[in-house]
Amino acid sequence: MTNKEKKSKQLNSRSLTSKVFTSDDNDFALPLVRSKRVRPISSPPRKRTRSITETTIPTKSSHPHIRARTPPLPDTEIVRPRNVEKVVYGRYEIDAWYYSPYPHEFGSLIKRLYVCDTCLRYVKDDIQLSNHKAQCQSRTPPGRVVYATDKVKIYEIDGRDNKMYCQNLCLMAKLFLDHKTLYYDVDGFKFYVLTERQEKKPKDLMVGYFSKEKISYDNYNLACIMTLPSHQRKGYGRLLIEWSYELSKREGVIGSPEKPLSTLGLLGYHSYWSSVILQVLKSLKESEISIARLCQETYLQEEDVTSTLARLGLLRHWEHPPSSLVSNNPSPLFSISPPPVVVHIDPSMLNQVISKHHIHFNRQIDPSCILL
Ligand code: ACO
Ligand code: ZN
Repeated sequence: MTNKEKKSKQLNSRSLTSKVFTSDDNDFALPLVRSKRVRPISSPPRKRTRSITETTIPTKSSHPHIRARTPPLPDTEIVRPRNVEKVVYGRYEIDAWYYSPYPHEFGSLIKRLYVCDTCLRYVKDDIQLSNHKAQCQSRTPPGRVVYATDKVKIYEIDGRDNKMYCQNLCLMAKLFLDHKTLYYDVDGFKFYVLTERQEKKPKDLMVGYFSKEKISYDNYNLACIMTLPSHQRKGYGRLLIEWSYELSKREGVIGSPEKPLSTLGLLGYHSYWSSVILQVLKSLKESEISIARLCQETYLQEEDVTSTLARLGLLRHWEHPPSSLVSNNPSPLFSISPPPVVVHIDPSMLNQVISKHHIHFNRQIDPSCILL
């Protein structure tokens, strides 16, 4: 079978199956069904635009209302009402943001969902949780540690080997993800789970994760990413995004997250993309660089590079450059005309952009702590 045929088969089976997963070893096992964004039949499919000039990308300043620990403005296409009010997880009580397919037997509106802070199993009340904790064998997430500092660790977990943990993780994550598909079929995914060391307790608490297809024909390096609201705005999303590109680098494959990105996902990616691109541009000795080389240096997909440059106001894109633009504008920082696609660099403009967009170059990943 050719790659194209495999891909088409995979896509077909993904969109057509309505498989229901049940677990064999979980008392609290539930059918885990795929959650899909549903559109009214009459509404047209979302327009996919590739043109840089047509892309509208929100910037931090265009979202002044967004605050840590509060959900973003609701997506107009959310179809299912929220079915969980609060999640009790370790010492945290977290407001849920979106619907997640927890079992109907738990009720149509679960006031409090109790989740074990080591194995992520869920129960209806605190007595059941205490009973469960009395016999819970887990102390850490399953899988192997691939990154470790004094404070945080990343566990790499194979969805096939640890189905129950990964399904429970997906269910919990869906409470904070508006439109992403819930992966009931976790076999084809790896999960990178970020844990934070708990003070006074020898415990690694899951605080965020991302999933990644084992084989992605679209070169996606990340499927879904989530940081628990209780732990957002601490750089953990950035750390996970950096890690996803670290994996791409090790695989030698240029990667990109699965689209569409949520509002918060966009903020995280814009911040990361801007800083890695600007870092390369600033360190260049030459006065120009091709988009292709920018992709190679950063492991970012071309579309992500060009959309970031456009958003930063560093890209001028035209098929037939009007002569007035060429002659009257003394320093277009980047001029792109196909082919070749080349970025011209003006150091003073780079500095202006860095300060205007508050771009920082702090890396969250410490290379000396990578255990791969
Ligand atoms: N308001 C403004 N800026 C924000 C906010 C916010 N609420 N949240 C994050 N940011 C910015 C940060 O300022 C930071 O940029 P900076 O370094 O330039 O300051 C950047 O985004 C990353 O911040 P982190 O603290 O590293 O990210 P965090 O741990 O908060 O996680 C994430 C980001 C994963 C997107 C989180 O908000 C989340 O889980 N949201 C809910 C689930 C979601 O929407 N996931 C993405 C779906 S798209 C996909 O899965 C491919
Ligand atoms: Zn447990």
